[in-house]
Amino acid sequence: MRVHVADHPLVAHKLTTLRDERTDSPTFRRLADELVTLLAYEATRDVRVVPVEVRTPVSPATGVRLSSPKPLVVPILRAGLGMLDGMVRLLPTAEVGFLGMVRDEQTLTATTYATRLPDDLHGRQCYVLDPMLATGGTLAAAIRFLVERGADDITAICLLSAPEGIERLERDLEGLDVPVSVVTAAVDERLNELGYIVPGLGDAGDRLYGVV
Ligand code: URA
Repeated sequence: MRVHVADHPLVAHKLTTLRDERTDSPTFRRLADELVTLLAYEATRDVRVVPVEVRTPVSPATGVRLSSPKPLVVPILRAGLGMLDGMVRLLPTAEVGFLGMVRDEQTLTATTYATRLPDDLHGRQCYVLDPMLATGGTLAAAIRFLVERGADDITAICLLSAPEGIERLERDLEGLDVPVSVVTAAVDERLNELGYIVPGLGDAGDRLYGVV
């Protein structure tokens, strides 16, 4: 598994404001959106393209366009929704599927409560959006779900990651015959006893959408 930490002052600047407990929800949503677009730029470095010929006003030129089948963007509900606009801004022709997963706060295990995805993902590059790679349980389950449907290349975009989550992903996905990458703005210190990332930014869903 490849882990890419986006090392850029603009990423660090936006992340710092996201972390700040005084940042209100509208500002948090806007900054998360902007940060995702920066991370998406890194995450799509290997997006598949095919060569095409176009004519400029001056001469023929060779370029590329995204190949078929189109990439699939999969936000994990609920907090991943806050990353969707920032991602499709960069990949407007991508298709979007949804995966609803919830973490049991006692056992920290993930269960799927909703899916809206193509049945057949063969030949698809998938971009999974999950703001917090904490224990890694939710993301590992989501990646396995997509691989079972045939996805053959998966990139997870996470605003923040914990070392424990990265290790768990590596362990859980060992032997998986599909390349998996994680692109994240930072790898923090650790998880606390409640499964929150430290120092982290708190509950991403609550900060995006309020406590419901
Ligand atoms: N989910 C969150 O929203 N925040 C954390 O710190 C961990 C999991």
